[in-house]
Amino acid sequence: MRKGHHKLRKERRPPPKEPKAPPPPVQLPARVKVPTLPAKTLLPTPGTFLWTCREGFEGPLFEELCWHKTSVTLLSAGLVQSEKLPRVMPTFARMVFRVDAVVATPQEAAQVLGPRRLKVQVWVPDTQAGNARAGECVAWESTIAALREGQSDPSTPWSAFELGAGLGQVSLVAPHTAAVGVVPAREALSLAAGGRARMKRTAEAPSRAAMKLDEALEWVGVAPGKGDVCVDLGSAPGGWTRRLVERGARVWSVDTGLLAPDLASHGRVKHFHQSAFAFAPDEPCDWLFCDMAWRPLEVAQLLAKWARNRWARQLVANLKLPMKDKLPTLVRARAALEAGGWSDVTLRQLYHDRDEVTVKAIRRHA
Ligand SMILES: C[S@@+](CC[C@H](N)C(=O)[O-])C[C@H]1O[C@@H](n2cnc3c(N)ncnc32)[C@H](O)[C@@H]1O
Repeated sequence: MRKGHHKLRKERRPPPKEPKAPPPPVQLPARVKVPTLPAKTLLPTPGTFLWTCREGFEGPLFEELCWHKTSVTLLSAGLVQSEKLPRVMPTFARMVFRVDAVVATPQEAAQVLGPRRLKVQVWVPDTQAGNARAGECVAWESTIAALREGQSDPSTPWSAFELGAGLGQVSLVAPHTAAVGVVPAREALSLAAGGRARMKRTAEAPSRAAMKLDEALEWVGVAPGKGDVCVDLGSAPGGWTRRLVERGARVWSVDTGLLAPDLASHGRVKHFHQSAFAFAPDEPCDWLFCDMAWRPLEVAQLLAKWARNRWARQLVANLKLPMKDKLPTLVRARAALEAGGWSDVTLRQLYHDRDEVTVKAIRRHA
């Protein structure tokens, strides 16, 4: 045997196997056969609720709404209609509003919106066909703005939220056709037009991962600050860790991969170069973040263990859903998180999420 051969073999040993998770015993709601998308956009009916989602996710949104017996119709790519609002907001919804009218001109839209104090949002569904009509959106927006001049409307969705005002919804569902309605800003699924909460790509946070965290924290409504201890599972190369450090937090960053060198040597970052399944904190932390590229049910069970052991008080996690049929996994992941002791578990496919969803939760027992 050549000198050093043994050492070489040792280094090449595969990493230890991750624990295999037994599926939690969960009763799945009856599955629904999702119809194919209509060849031509169906127009929403006034009095119903119009939902929008990421293109390609109409099927799971349709099924989630069916589970809540809301009488659902698939209208087109990115658009689903229901006759009622569900008890729990669906994971795959980006925005919803009650349709007051379907109109053909911005003048009619302005008339439907009336003299109420509103921040008007004109949007197209985030689909190939919808985005091709973005120019039409601009034209409707400026005509409606001109017609509402002098109405002391809030200037931003945030000020509408603060004032308790509404968000006027003008959704261009087809060429020269808009569904119009109003949603109170404080009840809106998103303050961004059509739920497209685009985060700014800054020089310090160039990655999509960092934008995902920015959007998630905006959605959660609170964020870690100076002195908070955050654990970041699946942290490399460090987009989330960087964002948390920038907010003044201390971060225990756990990944089998490497962190960017400036983060690895940062005074408020401690890198645990190991599997998150083998990591246990020395003391409880304030926030648990997780963006691990790993099987979602095993990740959910790992996160459940954190609540069970009272290792963290707040959770923000991204679950990867590369499988075709995503809903059974989500139902099981939610059940695992709740069984572990996480409460107010909310799952949402945010704007920056692709084949993944974001989860927020707080620990049930302080
Ligand atoms: C999408 S990346 C995370 C990106 C990170 N949030 C950022 O902002 O830079 C997924 C990470 O999960 C890590 N990962 C996968 N399985 C893991 C495990 N068992 N323990 C720790 N990290 C793991 C991968 O090494 C990878 O760095």
